Amino acid sequence: MERLQKVIANSGFCSRRKAEEYILTGQVKVNGVVVKELGTKVKKEDEITILNQVLTREEKEYFLLYKPEKTISSVSDDKGRTTVVSLIPSKNRLYPVGRLDYDTTGLLLLTNDGELTNILTHPSHEVEKIYRAKIQGILTGFEVQQIKKGLVIDGRKVVPTYFKVVKTNSENKTSIIRLGIVEGRNHIVKRMMASLDHKVLELKRESYAFLTLDGLKKGEARPLTIKEVKKLYSLK
Ligand code: URA
Repeated sequence: MERLQKVIANSGFCSRRKAEEYILTGQVKVNGVVVKELGTKVKKEDEITILNQVLTREEKEYFLLYKPEKTISSVSDDKGRTTVVSLIPSKNRLYPVGRLDYDTTGLLLLTNDGELTNILTHPSHEVEKIYRAKIQGILTGFEVQQIKKGLVIDGRKVVPTYFKVVKTNSENKTSIIRLGIVEGRNHIVKRMMASLDHKVLELKRESYAFLTLDGLKKGEARPLTIKEVKKLYSLK
């Protein structure tokens, strides 16, 4: 038996907080009966309806994908582009944890575990991600200092947990940088570089918390181990 709001959040339908709101406002039914009590426990075979939709309670799955370029971080795409979900060998309805841009490669998690997704994407316990970027131009010492001290993007400062210029190519006027970012705002690396007038030419996410791309080729995915899933839960 599990608490109703936990079952709803686990299904990926919405966050636990939102589930509580739906319960309190009488929008959740268990076996056809409206339930407004937050602590209500439900069994596996109970039918839960939320906003008149029957909740599907699938087995939880967790995949680590080495996302290739030209794939979109969503479940479907109206322009017919390849989605990251289509690269995962699963019959369940999985979705990406956060997003990587269409042209960004690297580590992306996919799951149908809404509770873990909420944990990993909640601003108060965002995890560190390491990115490697090829950028236009060569950073000056002053710019490197600015990045390390933190750049203000849309009124909020982003201080990298780690920053290094890996290589510079003075002929092509490009540089390779590596940086660690905790927050999860969209296009954050590109926006940081754009604020210093450096275009990002290539971007790859090399790691996500303790997870890396080791053993995977671009376009390949592997299931997470139980140990890895538990470790992700412990980041709470
Ligand atoms: N930052 C970006 O600019 N793009 C990504 O895909 C990820 C982080």
